[in-house]
Amino acid sequence: MFETLPGFRDFPPEACAQRNHIFRVFRNVARAFDFREYDAPILEPLDLFIEKSGPEIVSQLFHFQDKGERAVALRPELTPTLARMVANRANSLPKPIKWYNIGEHFRYERPQKGRGRSFYQFNADLLGEDSVGADAELIALLCGIMETLGLGQNQFALRLSDRQTWLLFLESIGIAEGERSAILEVIDKSERRKPEQNSEALDKIIPGRGNEILSQVDELKQINQLDSLLIKLSSFGQTGQTRANDWRALMDHLEAHQVSPFIKIDLSIVRGLAYYTGFVYEAFEASGEGRALAGGGRYDHLIKKLSGNIDLPAAGFAIGDMTLTDCLEKNGLLPSYVMVPDIFLICGSEQSKTGISIVANTRKAGFSVSHPLKESSFGKQFKEAGKSGARYALILGEEEELKKKVKIKDLKSSGEIAVDQSHLIQQLEKLDEEGGIDSSS
Ligand code: HAM
Repeated sequence: MFETLPGFRDFPPEACAQRNHIFRVFRNVARAFDFREYDAPILEPLDLFIEKSGPEIVSQLFHFQDKGERAVALRPELTPTLARMVANRANSLPKPIKWYNIGEHFRYERPQKGRGRSFYQFNADLLGEDSVGADAELIALLCGIMETLGLGQNQFALRLSDRQTWLLFLESIGIAEGERSAILEVIDKSERRKPEQNSEALDKIIPGRGNEILSQVDELKQINQLDSLLIKLSSFGQTGQTRANDWRALMDHLEAHQVSPFIKIDLSIVRGLAYYTGFVYEAFEASGEGRALAGGGRYDHLIKKLSGNIDLPAAGFAIGDMTLTDCLEKNGLLPSYVMVPDIFLICGSEQSKTGISIVANTRKAGFSVSHPLKESSFGKQFKEAGKSGARYALILGEEEELKKKVKIKDLKSSGEIAVDQSHLIQQLEKLDEEGGIDSSS
């Protein structure tokens, strides 16, 4: 017997129906925010992800050489692909560009709860607009999806942070420009490491200052109120003041979008991906348990880095399906779908041709119809109809065929009526409205 590869999942129909429920919410809410769906290849040139995604993701790539000796990789994320697509069409696309995608991604990670080697993401990105209104629109979309799925402020929170605030802070404590991104990487990992490991990692970048930098970093990470953050930012001079205004404007927008209750200022979020330049965020369960449900932020330089000449501001986020499904399940928010046909056809072997054409007509009229795929006795067919969970059985025997009739049996009430085959659809639609056949019929 073969098993799935580690970190890959099968989706039998029940799991697929639940996944479709989540995807349907993604699509409906994205539509309400006027985002357009797009799609892209799963396999990409390896080079697209090298440098663009950052070292952590590159070390997790599924990559190989194809028969044409090209170095290719299964996409670990969508952002570099989107940047390429938009850069290639930048002049002809009306701005702002508001696009979303639902698709599968692959990362060679250690499989664990909420983490697989293949997973789905809902990506939403907004390109061509650098004002905080765009960041707010994206955050409101993320919160709107979570709310529509049934998650309230007791169940999920969005932790909001800002790379620019971090860069201004690092500048204020005298860290040279070239060393700032290495320090952000340490800060990104700091929650998962011991303090000694963090100060050691910082010491490697700036020898002798590890402990001192760590205590200053910890101090900034403690800030979780807008007022104290604004005071801190104004201590960074004019650029700090400008950034404080951006923070205030963003929080005002989020309030107007009615999503403030979900937002927590949390500067421990830095994001592992190399391309982020501004406001960044991750969504978690409100309890803080488990891994991130979603993550994103602004990445204003990626399109230029990829295209060489096109300067297009951009921001976006992705929600992952694995942690989201776990969270919805835990909160009893995953509907369980009963998948049954509306109708089951029972017919004699001599009548099968007429029977199949009745099946074809009822299917065309929008009913879900099942029928025995090979000859079998009426008794067996009745049993099968009962097991199928269908509400109605259509019965076509010798007598019905001769009279050009068909019997409709309500499998719930056991009532039945005979109707002309030519009026069958009409009659079924009527029964749908009336709620079935009386048991005395
Ligand atoms: P990310 O934080 O790497 O961001 O992934 C976003 C979400 O995808 C995570 O919060 C998590 O739910 C899910 N995810 C990531 N890796 C795995 C995994 N191995 N197993 C299960 N779920 C996983 C990005 O991918 C960015 N490209 C998002 C973005 C879009 N930024 C701008 N636009």
